[in-house]
Amino acid sequence: MRKKIIIGNWKMNLSLADAQDLVFKLKNQVKTKSAVEVAICPPYVYLLTLVNILKGSNIHICAQNMFHKENGAYTGEISPEMLTDLHVNMVIVGHSERRQYFHETDSDINLKIKSALKFSFTPIFCVGEDLKVRESGKAEEWVKRQILAGLKDLSKIDLEKIIVAYEPIWAIGTGKICSGEDANKIVKMIRETIKELSTNIVSEKVRILYGGSIKSDNFSEHIKYPDIDGGLVGGASLKFEEFAKIIDLADSVHALHQSHP
Ligand code: 13P
Repeated sequence: MRKKIIIGNWKMNLSLADAQDLVFKLKNQVKTKSAVEVAICPPYVYLLTLVNILKGSNIHICAQNMFHKENGAYTGEISPEMLTDLHVNMVIVGHSERRQYFHETDSDINLKIKSALKFSFTPIFCVGEDLKVRESGKAEEWVKRQILAGLKDLSKIDLEKIIVAYEPIWAIGTGKICSGEDANKIVKMIRETIKELSTNIVSEKVRILYGGSIKSDNFSEHIKYPDIDGGLVGGASLKFEEFAKIIDLADSVHALHQSHP
């Protein structure tokens, strides 16, 4: 059975002092949770400090981005080797904000996923449609195309290691939530597409998350679906109480799914 995972994407937020405070509280809260995995994605400049605070805890540290090359003259970029040195073992790839503001293409994302896997990272591969696509009724087609492009030429063994996050752009930071039913439809289609690329066994191992305006008072609508394996949380991951409640929700639902598979 897939373990639920809650990932907090801090984006470009928090001072170092606030980041440390949040992580100390989380470390304490998460140590009693065994049914759910937790990861946080702080800005690069805080990684080393936070990795040290979280040593020995069960919280993963995840980078928000990385370049696909190992080293060289790429001013401003961070390589997988550098992140490995910090004991970071997860990375977000293809977030819609990277696609939109930094013009990352599907083929850039495919290169990053391959590079992440080469360095034994778990890539958190983000996909999702904008409002125009959603309103035209082509969301499934759009997301399927992103999945096929991002996962192009990956072996079955590599596909197994990926986490996919379905984040409809129109629901990110807008307070508009994609209903559990609609999110579940796309998540099922993603799993079916991964099955077409590999096998049923592989697709059943891949964790697929929902992201977009998740709050503690709306997430039960998504996490109750057995195919939705967790959440990629933006704004709500910056507030300890909110994030803790979201983790608790996933923890209790996981236990429920285990007793009634
Ligand atoms: P919000 O939860 O702030 O909508 O952000 C979602 C997101 O983009 C996480 O990667």
